[in-house]
Amino acid sequence: MKDLPKLELHLHHEGAAPPAFIRGLAAEKNVDLSGIFEPDGSYRFDGFTHFLSVYEAATSVLQSPEDYARLTRAVLEQSAEAGVIYTESFVSPDFCGGRDVEAWRDYLHAIREAAEQAERDMGITMRAIVTCIRHFGPEKARETALCAAETVGDFLTGFGMAGDEMKGTPEDFAYAFDMAREAELRITCHSGEWGDPKSIARTLDVLRPERLGHGVRAAEDPRLMERLAESGVVLEVCPGSNVALGVVPDWASHPIERLRRAGVRVTVSTDDPPFFHTGMVREYDRLADTFGWDEEVFRELALTAVDAAFCDDETKTRLRKRIET
Ligand code: ADE
Ligand code: ZN
Repeated sequence: MKDLPKLELHLHHEGAAPPAFIRGLAAEKNVDLSGIFEPDGSYRFDGFTHFLSVYEAATSVLQSPEDYARLTRAVLEQSAEAGVIYTESFVSPDFCGGRDVEAWRDYLHAIREAAEQAERDMGITMRAIVTCIRHFGPEKARETALCAAETVGDFLTGFGMAGDEMKGTPEDFAYAFDMAREAELRITCHSGEWGDPKSIARTLDVLRPERLGHGVRAAEDPRLMERLAESGVVLEVCPGSNVALGVVPDWASHPIERLRRAGVRVTVSTDDPPFFHTGMVREYDRLADTFGWDEEVFRELALTAVDAAFCDDETKTRLRKRIET
């Protein structure tokens, strides 16, 4: 599994931080983060809302562009080790300079330089997607979208929304998404991780994403699955995350196979791998064990991810070649 070329379209940059990396930064900066770790050194949380607050506590030690450059290196090393050849990572001006456009430029520049170095050293390509944080509210989302619109280009290619899906409505965030779309950012949005099929449909209507983060609760409604299949909206499915956070009780109950069989275009990602004790190799292993997926299915998945990737055609051609040989 390790050697299969993989693409990952749904990875939170801070959420991919190895716990030891965060502990190291905390020690350097004299921040006491002991409360967010288990005795064995892994992240400690109980349920989704608590996970979000532990995530934000861990992120608090990332305080400069240099810290984000080091984070980028650590994250891409981990991904390349798992056979990932292309990754899209969610980054947030909320955490990078407090939504100040000029500060954000410096953070993004540092992330980009580290990503380019990692590409030269390890052959892994990265693109960045700015995500606003839903529970921070619509006003901050607009400021975030402005940061994204000001820095759109061949590295920063997308805009999306993470955070607590039960807070606010898609309408609240329409202005931010419209601004991003007008700036020609590609659009994705977390929806259907916690929200029901009705709220997924509303997200599709109002925010018009071409991909959905998770989207797995669409499997509860055959008509919605048909809509997704017909429109070609791609799901960024993170099965290990869903099991760890209790979206589904276990791997056998995960709807990814039902969605795929209904013609919905699915891809596989890890979301926040160290938080969920996972990685791309583990996801592939569990999918093979649970659903009998073989190399042919994984190749189909990788090619779907290339089609859905927020990058230029030349990069896509290069990625397809690596998958097909
Ligand atoms: N931020 C980091 N991980 C997330 C998840 N699984 N859902 C929503 N927001 C997130
Ligand atoms: Zn996510």
